[in-house]
Amino acid sequence: QQTRIIGVPTDYGANRRGVDMGPSAIRYAGLATQLKAAGVTPTDAGDLAVPHHAIRDADAGGENAKHINEVEEVCTALADAVSGALAEGATPLAIGGDHSIAIGSMVGSARDADIGVIWFDAHGDFNTPETSPSGNVHGMPLAAALGIGDFEGVEWANTDGLKEENVAIVGLRDVDENETAAIHDSDVTAYTMSDIDERGITEITQEALDVATDGTDGIHVSLDLDWLDPREAPGVGTPVRGGATYREAHAAMELVADSGAMRSLELVEVNPILDEHNETATLATELAASAFGKSIL
Ligand code: ARG
Ligand code: MN
Ligand code: MN
Ligand code: MN
Repeated sequence: QQTRIIGVPTDYGANRRGVDMGPSAIRYAGLATQLKAAGVTPTDAGDLAVPHHAIRDADAGGENAKHINEVEEVCTALADAVSGALAEGATPLAIGGDHSIAIGSMVGSARDADIGVIWFDAHGDFNTPETSPSGNVHGMPLAAALGIGDFEGVEWANTDGLKEENVAIVGLRDVDENETAAIHDSDVTAYTMSDIDERGITEITQEALDVATDGTDGIHVSLDLDWLDPREAPGVGTPVRGGATYREAHAAMELVADSGAMRSLELVEVNPILDEHNETATLATELAASAFGKSIL
């Protein structure tokens, strides 16, 4: 199996600077070595070009969706890179960068296929420009790709290859009021940390896989490192207590690998400036290895 690493050094979707250094931190932590240990052959496409502004206007390019023009530019390039990797038989592995890049990953992964998505995250990322309390696009990528609210008919962000019925969010514990309503109104399946506490990570992940693989050609796995507890993953911009443990996260990724359904993966929200000794980036590389099938025996 071949995988193609695509670096996406952007922080335009987040309000904490430094997440644009995620790709460097994740490579430095030994991503390629970890992937080889999982038995896959990685190639590295390098970093996508991200528009650079020496001075960043806090509201540039849209009051309610900050830096939306830069996000569009980056996601459009990422969508091409992801679909290009798939066309050449390599599994795309996007390394962010903030979670706004998921719009590009999903659009690219679904360009020539029907896909499902498993979204491992403390957050719903289901805001729209009109509902977002922050204006940060990393809180909006699921709504964007599904064409919800203001995102309806926004061509660069929407995709026909993904249906709400095939989206499962796993690990919710910080959801804005309007997001709760929007998730309920949608056909997305969402699991909170309480669900994981009650039923265990294995059962929840298996159900999420069933949702995402039902009638699809494969799944995109979006791993926001803030899904994990901040004790394991301190290097993220929006940490929330009470997250997945180290072992729960590996167990989930191992089930993803066992499903054989993963067609694309992304690791997002690693912020080395907020991290302790690069441990969040290191964890990201280990979880990627599990998702690609690394096993002990
Ligand atoms: N819900 C909050 C917002 O819309 C936080 C989103 C955090 N998202 C993330 N990908 N870390 O601003
Ligand atoms: Mn999050
Ligand atoms: Mn409901
Ligand atoms: Mn997120």
